[in-house]
Amino acid sequence: MPGKCVIGLQWGDEAKGKLVDILTEGKDLVVRYQGGANAGHTVVIGDDVYKLHHIPSGILNEGVLNLITAGVVINPPTIIEEIKSLEARGIDVAARMKISGRAHVVMPWHVLEDKMWNRLVSGEDNIGTTLRGIGPCYADKIGRSFAIRIGDLIQDDFADRVRKIVEVKKRVLTAAGDEDSGSLDAEAIIAEYAKYAEALRPMVTDTNRILLDAIDDDKEILFEGAQGSLLDIDHGTFPFVTSSNSSGLGISTGSGVPGNWLTNVVGVMKTYATRVGGGPFPTEQENEHGQHIRDEGNEYGTTTGRPRRCGWFDAVAARYSARLGGVTSIAITMLDVLSKLPEIQVCVAYELDGQRIDYFPAHVNDLRRLKPIYETLPGWQQDVTGARSLDDLPVVAIEYVKSIEALVGRRVEFISVGPDRAQTITVSEGQTLESYLAARG
Ligand code: GDP
Ligand code: IMO
Ligand code: MG
Repeated sequence: MPGKCVIGLQWGDEAKGKLVDILTEGKDLVVRYQGGANAGHTVVIGDDVYKLHHIPSGILNEGVLNLITAGVVINPPTIIEEIKSLEARGIDVAARMKISGRAHVVMPWHVLEDKMWNRLVSGEDNIGTTLRGIGPCYADKIGRSFAIRIGDLIQDDFADRVRKIVEVKKRVLTAAGDEDSGSLDAEAIIAEYAKYAEALRPMVTDTNRILLDAIDDDKEILFEGAQGSLLDIDHGTFPFVTSSNSSGLGISTGSGVPGNWLTNVVGVMKTYATRVGGGPFPTEQENEHGQHIRDEGNEYGTTTGRPRRCGWFDAVAARYSARLGGVTSIAITMLDVLSKLPEIQVCVAYELDGQRIDYFPAHVNDLRRLKPIYETLPGWQQDVTGARSLDDLPVVAIEYVKSIEALVGRRVEFISVGPDRAQTITVSEGQTLESYLAARG
C-alpha cells in the first residue's frame, strides 16, 4: 500500500493539519518528517481546537501510531509542554507517539543564535524567522561538530559535549555582541536536559525500523509535511525559506522511506496566498483586498501570532510546487474566505523585464521584479460554510475551483469550506468537476 502524503504548496499554513486529521481515519501511522516547532497545525473538532507544533496531527485518533522521524528538529521543553497540554485534555500521547533518536535537538543556544542572526540582518534582507532556533539547529546538523541528537541526551558523554559546545557558542555569541549569551550555563543545561531526557525516554526509538517494517507489513502510512513547498531550503524562495526540505522532496530523506513508495501526494493550497516573515510575494496585496482576506480568513500566525501577509492566488507558484512535489491531487482550502467578493483575481503568468513568463524564477532578485498577470473570475457572493457536497455549492464557486484545477494541472480531491473536520467536500475519484457541472446543468 503506497504511503499517502500531505504537503503545503504555498508558504505554509494551507490547513495541512486539518487535512491530516481527516485523512488519518483508517491509517496505522502518521509521520512528521521535517521542521520543528516553527510549524503550527490546527485541528478543529466541534468546539475543540488543537494547535500542534511538533506533534503529528494524527495524535487525536486512538489506535494510530504517530512518529517524529530523523528529519525533525525537537525542542525538548517545548515538546514536553505540548505533550502535557494534550494529556491534560485526555489524550494519551505517550501511548500514541514515538520519537526518533536521530532527530536533532534545538538547544538553548540555537534560540539565542536565531535571535542574533535576526538582529544582525535588517530591512528587506531580514528573513523574519519564527525565532524558534530552527535555522541554527539545522546549521549545526549540517556542520556536525556541534550537533546534538535526541539519542545523545542519554549518552554518558552528553555532559562533556554540552560543556564544550557552550564554551564555543558563548565565544561566538559574545563576539557578535549578544547580551543574552551570559545566560548560557552549561551545568544548568546539563541538569535540566537530564530531566527532559527522562521524560522523553519511553518514546525514543528507531523510527526508521518501525517505518520500514510497516512498509513490509503493508500498513497504511500518512506523512504530514510542515511549512510549504515555497519555503523549501533548496527549491523555495531562497534565502527567504525555512531550513528543511519542506516540498514533497523532503518526505523520503526526512522520514527514511524510499521515494518510489511515495506515489500518493495531496497538495494543500488556499484559494488565495499568504506568507509570514520576509521575502518575495508576487501577488501580495498591501491594500484593502489583502486586509479583507486577513479579516475574513483570520490570517494571524498559529505559532507567532504575527499578521500574515495576504494576496491573490498565484497559479504559477502552485503549479511549480505541484510538479516539484509529485502531487497527485489537490486539497483547496478557505473557499469560504472569498465568499463576499464580487470578483476574484488569479495570477496566471508573470511579466519579468517586459517579457511574459509562465514559470517560477529561481533567483530572489527576479522574484522581486515579477509583475503578476491576473485573470479576473466572478465571485459567488453566497455563504458556503454549510456546504457538505458539491450539490450545496454555488455553480460559480465550483467554476472557480475548476479554473484553479486547470491552472495548477492536478485534480481537486478536497474542497474545504471552514475549519471544522465536517466542513469538507470530497470529490470522488473518477468524478470531474467538468462532468459534474455538465450533469447539474
Ligand atoms: P497548517 O499550518 O497548514 O496546518 O495551517 P494553520 O493551522 O497554521 O492555519 C490554517 C487555519 O485555517 C487554521 O486556523 C484552521 O483552523 C483554519 N482553516 C482550515 N481550513 C479552513 C477553511 O476551509 N476555511 C477557513 N475559514 N479556515 C480554515
Ligand atoms: P506550518 O507548518 C508559515 C516561515 C517563517 C519565516 C521562514 C523561516 O504551520 O505551515 P524558520 O523559523 O523556519 O527559520 O522561519 O519560514 N515559516 C512558516 N510560515 N507556516 C509555517 O509552518 C512556517 N514555518 C516557518 O515565518 O518566514
Ligand atoms: Mg501553520
